[in-house]
Amino acid sequence: MTSGIGAAMAGGKKGKGDERPRQHGDWYPTPPECTQVLLDRVAFGDTVWEPCCGDGSLAKVMEARGIKVIGTDLHDRGYGIGHGAAHDILKAKELLAEDIVTNPPFNIAAPIIRHLIEMKPRKMALLLKSSFWHAKNRSALFEEHPPSRIIALTWRPDFLSIGRPTMEVSWCVWEQGHNDRTYYELAARPPRQPRSPS
Ligand SMILES: C[S@@+](CC[C@H](N)C(=O)[O-])C[C@H]1O[C@@H](n2cnc3c(N)ncnc32)[C@H](O)[C@@H]1O
Repeated sequence: MTSGIGAAMAGGKKGKGDERPRQHGDWYPTPPECTQVLLDRVAFGDTVWEPCCGDGSLAKVMEARGIKVIGTDLHDRGYGIGHGAAHDILKAKELLAEDIVTNPPFNIAAPIIRHLIEMKPRKMALLLKSSFWHAKNRSALFEEHPPSRIIALTWRPDFLSIGRPTMEVSWCVWEQGHNDRTYYELAARPPRQPRSPS
């Protein structure tokens, strides 16, 4: 059974002896190496929208590669151009950039996927728990909108630097015009790099 931080992030039940509460607003900043493997494999446009940007942990890695990032979040964590109810991703009416990259709050990831796809992004990559699609109630979403690629990380990212990560994650990528099967690939952990300064 998944327990600890993995269960909390995934919205699951706590394991025995696990007292760690969910992070407020499901805030789990993405370690830089997760974003590095995505950018090493998938090309994005000059500007990317990070609609759940948190403190910019993910966004700053894109910026370091020369990508302009438009960051928004329901909560102000010190990064981005807009916060609060007006920037609730589920209420967004238009894309702020053609390409989207984010690590969304896991408990509302499925409605976020549907909502964003309805706005027809050119390319979209979301970091999801690797078992995300292993659920009966998500199979329709997969059949209707199959990702073009699933990039499975072969290590467990330590989102809160607590030293005992338990959750496996994958990048799920959607690309306009994709109407073929999903390509599944593995990504090895790149050499460690420090988190971007805030
Ligand atoms: C798992 S954290 C990831 C943060 C950042 N994307 C990163 O990768 O470092 C999810 C983020 O989604 C934000 N969030 C939660 N609900 C949201 C909503 N309805 N609309 C926009 N952002 C939301 C949280 O405040 C949090 O910063």
